[in-house]
Amino acid sequence: MSTVNVSLTLLDIDSPTSAPPEALQVGKLLDSHGRQIKDLRLSVTDRCNFRCVYCMGPDVKYLPKMDLLTVDEYVHIVEVAMSLGIDKLRITGGEPTLFPKLDEFIQRVGKMGLRDIALTTNGSTLTREKARLWKDSGLHRVTVSLDTLKPSRKDAITRSHTTLKNVIASIDIASDVGLSPVKVNAVILRGVNDDEVADFAQFAKDHEIDMRLIEFMALDAGHTWKREDVVTANEMKHRIEKEHTLIKEGDSPSSTSMNYRFTSGGGRIGFIASVSESFCHGCDRMRIMADGTVRPCLFSDDEWCIRSLLRSGASDDKLRTFFQDAVWAKSAGHGMDRDDFKRPEKTMSTIGG
Ligand code: GTP
Ligand code: 5AD
Ligand code: SF4
Repeated sequence: MSTVNVSLTLLDIDSPTSAPPEALQVGKLLDSHGRQIKDLRLSVTDRCNFRCVYCMGPDVKYLPKMDLLTVDEYVHIVEVAMSLGIDKLRITGGEPTLFPKLDEFIQRVGKMGLRDIALTTNGSTLTREKARLWKDSGLHRVTVSLDTLKPSRKDAITRSHTTLKNVIASIDIASDVGLSPVKVNAVILRGVNDDEVADFAQFAKDHEIDMRLIEFMALDAGHTWKREDVVTANEMKHRIEKEHTLIKEGDSPSSTSMNYRFTSGGGRIGFIASVSESFCHGCDRMRIMADGTVRPCLFSDDEWCIRSLLRSGASDDKLRTFFQDAVWAKSAGHGMDRDDFKRPEKTMSTIGG
């Protein structure tokens, strides 16, 4: 029961397993576990000016420049994905603000009618002028990474010298210009920043933002991840509850975070329990790396590159079939809770956050 298997017939490149015809006919991105994919995480560069300890190694081997897609190719991907029901786009990296054509990309996708366009950034380069430009161009919101509130720790965690003040300023700028809700991500590492979880809750209140505390996942370049070292969402929540009363909010079925608000004031705190309480069952995400590699699951090394197909002038129908086949092959879950769990080779900076 095979379908077009476009890439193999057209070109000498790898191809996903074919989805059954009935899945292809519906014009949606369906996987074989009954999930519809509506959220595209598109990495526009694997370059980064930080070297966060939970992500990149100090020495990085980047993708070859000629393999990176052009802005036209990224836009084309979004167009085709939208025709398959994608309505939410996260622009990611690496550090997406290092993509030289980011302004143009936001301007073009901002006109396409997506329900939600978000950008993940480490906050080191965000200026008021850029934030305004992107907001006016159709970007809805930003998510900023901030793993410590202690200036003395910042350099050690990010292996870089941007000041904490800059990153915090970028969060306030994003709120000011209406790129909201502003979400702030902190990966919590035992013995590194786990003594700050209650401070992050206070930060959420003070800045009226959505602070999300994330369990460390096996996606670091250094391969230092050990299950026993993960600070679980439960542990984080208990620590915060010593200082704050938390009120549960309703979460959307595809939410990565379990969200809470405080008894008074603004701001929210969310726990992303990727390891201890997997949210794979509700996953509606697919990822495309900066070189066109389509990765239906963050954790499965099954991936297929669409670049040659794109560059050979394949029709949109063929590109659609490629995406549908790739998504059909999406794995049910990451298996980090299993003893036979095999960690992915690639890091978050290459795959896209
Ligand atoms: P929005 O719903 O668009 O706001 O995104 P989000 O809640 O997924 O937030 P974001 O993209 O900032 O992701 C937050 C963190 O959740 C990431 O940094 C990862 O640590 C984790 N995460 C995101 N997507 C996945 C996923 O598909 N699988 C797993 N296991 N973790 C994920
Ligand atoms: N575990 C959890 N989250 C990670 N990120 C990167 N590496 C990891 C990891 N090993 C996430 C962080 C960061 C975003 C870009 O990717 O949330 O803010
Ligand atoms: Fe760069 Fe983000 Fe990875 Fe940090 S987590 S090294 S900012 S891609």
